[in-house]
Amino acid sequence: MDIKQAIKERHSVRKYKEDPIPEELVNRLGELIRECNAESGLHIQLILEDPGCFDTLLAHYGWFRGVRNYIAIVGEESLPDMEELGGYYGEKVVIEAQRMGLNTCWVAGTFSRGKCKAEVAPGEKLICVIAIGYGEETGTKHKSKPLSKLCDVPEEEMPVWFRNGLRAALMAPTAMNQQKFRISLEEGEPVITAGRGAMTRIDLGIVKYNFEAASGHKCR
Ligand SMILES: Cc1cc2nc3c(=O)[nH]c(=O)nc-3n(C[C@H](O)[C@H](O)[C@H](O)COP(=O)(O)O)c2cc1C
Repeated sequence: MDIKQAIKERHSVRKYKEDPIPEELVNRLGELIRECNAESGLHIQLILEDPGCFDTLLAHYGWFRGVRNYIAIVGEESLPDMEELGGYYGEKVVIEAQRMGLNTCWVAGTFSRGKCKAEVAPGEKLICVIAIGYGEETGTKHKSKPLSKLCDVPEEEMPVWFRNGLRAALMAPTAMNQQKFRISLEEGEPVITAGRGAMTRIDLGIVKYNFEAASGHKCR
């Protein structure tokens, strides 16, 4: 499955089967996470067979069932743009997981920070987690804001690569599906900015990853 297809097929999945993630995929995910950490300075971790982190009222309230594996997005608080980096590299892992036939859900609120088994060293912060595994279902397409609210480039002026990036950006997961971002084209370069509010910096990184992966153009 190519990246654009994986971006299209990815939806948040909150109910998981008991099937473990096969060793081969665990190794591939581990390798990818090592590469992401080396490139970004983050401390992303794959935690397997730990149902406790999602065994809380909050998680049940959020309709999570059967989550036993998750990816913890952890970063040094002094890293510039730590939350944006967490979003960017987390989404890279999410899209690769989708290509491997796995399902995911970004989670910043409805899990137990106290029971999370990730290693968080002094000076580091647990930004959020991503549930991962074989879903009971594949999820559904989210509603999107009208294009005019997210992008100010007239459709007839969009280069093909920009249109591809934009499509993928609209498919990106954002906290509470808030889609608080704007995409523009400045001197031929794509620029994505975040609106105000909680978690918009994580969302920004996620949206930038989707745009870049589908368009082949680096965002500012
Ligand atoms: C940073 C972030 C935090 C999120 N936190 C939660 C959460 O705490 N609980 C939850 O059920 N979903 C959470 N989500 C999932 C969003 O609700 C979901 O991505 C959005 O509604 C769009 O749906 P989709 O992922 O199926 O495209 C989060 C998503 C992101 C990007």
